[in-house]
Amino acid sequence: MLTLKGKHSTVYVENGKAIKVFKPQFKYNFWKEVRYLTVLQSQKFVPKLFSFNPSELSIEMEFVDGVFIRDFIKESDSEEIRTILERCLDICYRLDRMRIQKEEMNHPWKHIIVGDRVVFIDFERAYDTPNPSNVTQFVTFLRSIADLAEINIPPVDLLKEYKKYYSFRNYIALKRSVFS
Ligand SMILES: Nc1ncnc2c1ncn2[C@@H]1O[C@H](COP(=O)(O)OP(=O)(O)OP(=O)(O)O)[C@@H](O)[C@H]1O
Ligand SMILES: [Mg+2]
Repeated sequence: MLTLKGKHSTVYVENGKAIKVFKPQFKYNFWKEVRYLTVLQSQKFVPKLFSFNPSELSIEMEFVDGVFIRDFIKESDSEEIRTILERCLDICYRLDRMRIQKEEMNHPWKHIIVGDRVVFIDFERAYDTPNPSNVTQFVTFLRSIADLAEINIPPVDLLKEYKKYYSFRNYIALKRSVFS
């Protein structure tokens, strides 16, 4: 069995499943992860949730086969990278519209897995808010890899406008400015 250590949990991988077991002091993180994986099950961008066990603080989910976005960026050409980044930005927009703040989208190196689909993992820090900033955080990340991916840094005004109402129109304007 493969064992992966996070700061908050240990993840056991077996038979296509990942079992994330939280340390006792991170009980609240366990419940947050259960909550957001549940709420997002209808979306394709989270691991399938199979079961959870509150007394063991364990969550049994789909093991997502793929590579971290960190490695994907290293190994791919700019066109492939752009396609994946566009998908990631769309996922961030979906989360913004659902008023869920995932957190850490400004450094998602190990929280996005690219395989036969793009999957976001680790929702233990997520929370509900009327002003989520997944898209703006992800744009911060995009700035740091702009040269590599051959994308543009959007003007601050577009970001501000977007954050006012999260409208589709403003999102598209922002996305266009990054990827045009
Ligand atoms: N569903 C999954 N599919 C594939 N790999 C996974 C999955 N869940 C977790 N992993 C792997 O286990 C590692 C630890 O998972 P995760 O980041 O959720 O733990 P964590 O304890 O919250 O970590 P941290 O303290 O760094 O936030 C990940 O980096 C990833 O390699
Ligand atoms: Mg974590």
